[in-house]
Amino acid sequence: MELALYHPEFGYYSSRDLNIGKRGDFFTSVSLGADFGELLAQQLLECCQNLGSLDHFALVEMGAGSGHLAIDILNYLSQKQPDFYHKITYYIIEISPRLRAKQQEYINTHLEVPVTLIWCDWSELPKITGCFFSNELVDAFPVEQIVIDNGQLKQVYVKYEQEKFHELLEPPATAELLEYFQMLEIDILTYPDGYRTEVNLRARQWLENIARKLETGYLITIDYGYAAQRYYHQQRSEGTLQCYYRQHRHNDPYFRTGQQDISASVNFTALELWGANLGLDLVGSTKQALFLMSLGLGDRLNEISFSSNNINELLKRRDAIHQLIDPIGLGNLQVLIQSKNIDQTLDLRGLIEAF
Ligand SMILES: C[S@@+](CC[C@H](N)C(=O)[O-])C[C@H]1O[C@@H](n2cnc3c(N)ncnc32)[C@H](O)[C@@H]1O
Repeated sequence: MELALYHPEFGYYSSRDLNIGKRGDFFTSVSLGADFGELLAQQLLECCQNLGSLDHFALVEMGAGSGHLAIDILNYLSQKQPDFYHKITYYIIEISPRLRAKQQEYINTHLEVPVTLIWCDWSELPKITGCFFSNELVDAFPVEQIVIDNGQLKQVYVKYEQEKFHELLEPPATAELLEYFQMLEIDILTYPDGYRTEVNLRARQWLENIARKLETGYLITIDYGYAAQRYYHQQRSEGTLQCYYRQHRHNDPYFRTGQQDISASVNFTALELWGANLGLDLVGSTKQALFLMSLGLGDRLNEISFSSNNINELLKRRDAIHQLIDPIGLGNLQVLIQSKNIDQTLDLRGLIEAF
């Protein structure tokens, strides 16, 4: 999965034609216009206000895709919160060199007011006072697959022979896999034969990086996923791995290797437990629909009815807003907020349920 997605030459995220959006293989909340980014910007602003009246705040976007989210956030803040805007340093951590180049081109041509903007990797990132955030990043990390085989946990390995991929079931390469299920209090060895699922060990390394760099502030993670009990429900016996090729969803990771997206849902309980061990306190978690409604998406929906004379524009925007809160689509994404060295009594508007 790592090579298929991130090989510098042949990986999906390195490919020349990678196009995230309505006409690409997949689209995200960011592809539906500026509403998502602008509401997230309001939440980021409130997070920074909770840190006190400082001279500098850092916003760190991880996995910035097309660069549209950065533009939606930055242009909104420069218009609505100019004093805050001038205190920001905006960092982007992006694994794909090709996407990094795309982001630079898009942001340089669309940024309305100059700001300090830095692309870097973890080793270059300074200590952060502010917010880390990501949208649909963690579900793109390469995962381990495991299968229960006669009461034993086996790991799925992949070999390439005679121009084909073959799966091998072998004992796990690391004790971390069994420790992971122990941490979750899931008795995986009692699961039926053939039960297959995923474990995202990269998410732990990622949290370690954040915990190391975050001095004071927040981490906002928005992604597809569930709590552990639902994720590892016995009925979900084929796991959560999903592949997207030109908007078609299927579950064959060996199809058109390097040309299709592959993702696996996120176990949010693991992010909470690992985070707690690393000093990242749970602030709260909710669904994207509730998060955006609490931040004012409902008001935006009401306002657009009066804002445009162009009926096509109006219907398009209304449809986009409905998609952001669709309970069987993007509205079902999970939003998790964790913090470090923050007074836990401080509220965040996105977590105050709107209904
Ligand atoms: C599914 S796309 C989401 C893009 C964007 N956040 C959005 O919502 O449209 C995943 C993004 O994360 C990046 N990515 C994946 N793994 C990464 C990692 N370990 N570090 C930084 N970026 C990563 C990908 O290259 C891509 O930009």
